[in-house]
Amino acid sequence: MKKGFFLSFEGIEGTGKSTQARLLFERLREKGFDAVLTEEPGGTKIGHKIRELLLSPDHQEMTPLTELLLYFASRTQHLAQVIIPAVNRGAVVITDRFTDSTIAYQGYGRGIALHLLHSLDTIATEGMQPDITLLLDLDVETGLGRNRGINKTDRIELEDIRFHKRVRNGFLELAAQQPERIKLIDASLEKEEVRKRVLDLVLDIVSS
Ligand code: TMP
Repeated sequence: MKKGFFLSFEGIEGTGKSTQARLLFERLREKGFDAVLTEEPGGTKIGHKIRELLLSPDHQEMTPLTELLLYFASRTQHLAQVIIPAVNRGAVVITDRFTDSTIAYQGYGRGIALHLLHSLDTIATEGMQPDITLLLDLDVETGLGRNRGINKTDRIELEDIRFHKRVRNGFLELAAQQPERIKLIDASLEKEEVRKRVLDLVLDIVSS
């Protein structure tokens, strides 16, 4: 039976979500919560190997379906090995990306049919969704500019700007469809202001 809490951070490249996920994790730990910080693709030894396969700019020949199945493979392992055991013992699990990324990137970005994504999701996660998702939203030019400024260019980031615009639009559509779960946060604000908004939102929910 589920006892803990499952939270994801989502967004396009360069929104600062990994930093915000870590800041939230540290604050929750300080407040005495049993918190776990993890990421996708990754989170496990197998997941990290899959991450390398997915993100290496050397793998330009990867087909969209191979890419999709690898993201789900990483997720299945992540759920079994990290997320489900931690939630079952009562922890707050914070993941940097989860299924919404697959819908935004492989669905809206690559154009894979959404019904196919939902079918695979049922197999890979049995439909498990985060209790709450923090969507850090930023315009694509600013996000990509921030990442390129720090020389972060993996295979997905190297896609053209139209791809990233479709991804952002995908995230925003998901947020409009599921406002109870997906909370939109303006990532163009100062890092400290974003941190405060994230913390207020999460403490409100995990403490209630
Ligand atoms: P990161 O840069 O936030 O660590 O994410 C790795 C990249 O993988 C990022 O470009 C988004 C992409 N991605 C997908 O395309 N589909 C997915 O399901 C996930 C989890 C990430």
